[in-house]
Amino acid sequence: MRNFNEHTITDAVLARVGGAGDPRVREISEALVRHLHAFVREVRPTQKEWEYGIDFLTRTGQMCDDKRQEFILLSDTLGVSMLVDAINHPVPEGATETTVLGPFFVQAAPEKQVGDDISGGMKGDPLLVTGSVSADDGRPLAGAVIDVWHSDEDGYYDVQQLDKIGDLSMRARFHADADGRFHFWSIKPAAYPIPHDGPVGDMLEAQGRHPWRPAHVHFMISAPGFEQLVTHVFVAGDKYLDSDVVFGVKDSLIREFLQRSPGRAPDGRTAEQPYFYLHYDFGLKHDARRGMAA
Ligand code: BEZ
Ligand code: FE
Repeated sequence: MRNFNEHTITDAVLARVGGAGDPRVREISEALVRHLHAFVREVRPTQKEWEYGIDFLTRTGQMCDDKRQEFILLSDTLGVSMLVDAINHPVPEGATETTVLGPFFVQAAPEKQVGDDISGGMKGDPLLVTGSVSADDGRPLAGAVIDVWHSDEDGYYDVQQLDKIGDLSMRARFHADADGRFHFWSIKPAAYPIPHDGPVGDMLEAQGRHPWRPAHVHFMISAPGFEQLVTHVFVAGDKYLDSDVVFGVKDSLIREFLQRSPGRAPDGRTAEQPYFYLHYDFGLKHDARRGMAA
């Protein structure tokens, strides 16, 4: 087979990749070729534009290291991460909706006790968070593991300023109590722009988009027999809720961070100064794969 032209090249490539032994590799390869060729046919790039595209992807790869994952940022900002999330995490009644993980999760977060202050002395408005973890049928999940992380009052995570602050802060790992409950103190997070000093930032600018995410607190919650929940709780009223650069906002994940006066707080402590208060009840989805593996 030779002498391909604009009208024959796609079928020729499809025939070639159709020989893949693994049916899933074949399915993915064929779809990739069909959609990629359709894209090129629609856009009809000039040679220069094609070179720009190759250079863009090259720079995206070169920007990646153990701290920066520009390809995931590209997937996030093109809505692909949330599409993959939606496909893989249908949410039954009683389960909490999911959203993107983001690049600021740390595997080895400091273990804290329920009730601890995790702010690490960072400046900001005090925030009390109370919550519960249940199964989607309402049964409390004692001992559920709750990872939490959020930005400071200027919109920076600890890992973006470790040289300045020294230690991880505004993040922790808790174990829910016997009733599936937990609470902690920290500071109120702020909205922030995603890292936009690389090719993804160039793309956003060219597309006339801002790089901001509305203020939120991240949660990753696990319990044996349940799907791991990756989600955030967003601050109601944030001006970026309808234009989150990574398309991660869902109504069910927005809560008022209520302003409270000094005095007895919901956790029984006496707050010496005004503080914000967030409560959220999380629901975990039974892990369907467990039954299948047995
Ligand atoms: C975050 O919320 O931490 C995040 C999510 C996606 C891209 C960048 C940041
Ligand atoms: Fe975040």
